[in-house]
Amino acid sequence: MHTLEEIFEDIWQRLEKGAKSHSSAFHYMQVATVDFQNKPKVRTVVLRGATRETCELQFNTDGRAKKCDEILKNNFVEVCLYDGEAHTQVRISGTAVLEKNTEKAKKLWDKMRVDSKKCYCAAVPSGNLLEKEGDALEDFKPEEAEAGFENFVNCYLKIEKIDWLLLAHSGHRRAIFCKVESGWESSWAVP
Ligand SMILES: Cc1cc2nc3c(=O)[nH]c(=O)nc-3n(C[C@H](O)[C@H](O)[C@H](O)COP(=O)(O)O)c2cc1C
Repeated sequence: MHTLEEIFEDIWQRLEKGAKSHSSAFHYMQVATVDFQNKPKVRTVVLRGATRETCELQFNTDGRAKKCDEILKNNFVEVCLYDGEAHTQVRISGTAVLEKNTEKAKKLWDKMRVDSKKCYCAAVPSGNLLEKEGDALEDFKPEEAEAGFENFVNCYLKIEKIDWLLLAHSGHRRAIFCKVESGWESSWAVP
């Protein structure tokens, strides 16, 4: 069995790997927000950044998406990641900040392939109803991909709490890590 310090280290290694490698189980995470009817909304996104020094996770999205309106109204979010092989779930909560049109955003944008930029070029926002099957990208021309930068938003999650759960035949284990001014407070918890 591992110590709380080792578990904390392992969580960050998994997050950092998840942000870099699409073959990592932590490359995708479920992000939960609260909608305008106070109902939960959850969706999958790609983990694009995990920075230990600033205690931040990052994902990219289209600024016209519902989740952005929800975050602007209530910036408390929780994300959930699961590694089936390691039988490990990590839930991370905190506050989200949306950034757009920054130098950092431009650097991230410039590294993206046209295929990825295309996702930000839909003629109408995601979630809008369509009269027929489609993706609102029928008129997309690769040479116009740069227009998508207008919709490119980087969401940074400032981590406040990490809730780790390991499923094991010998007994499940759970640990909680809370960010405090001086660093992190950690404790075992009932799974
Ligand atoms: C595997 C996978 C990865 C996804 N990655 C992203 C992502 O990185 N950013 C994003 O905004 N949506 C991503 N989506 C789409 C979202 O899950 C969601 O459908 C979309 O963003 C609209 O969400 P909203 O209406 O709640 O804003 C992904 C979906 C899947 C299935």
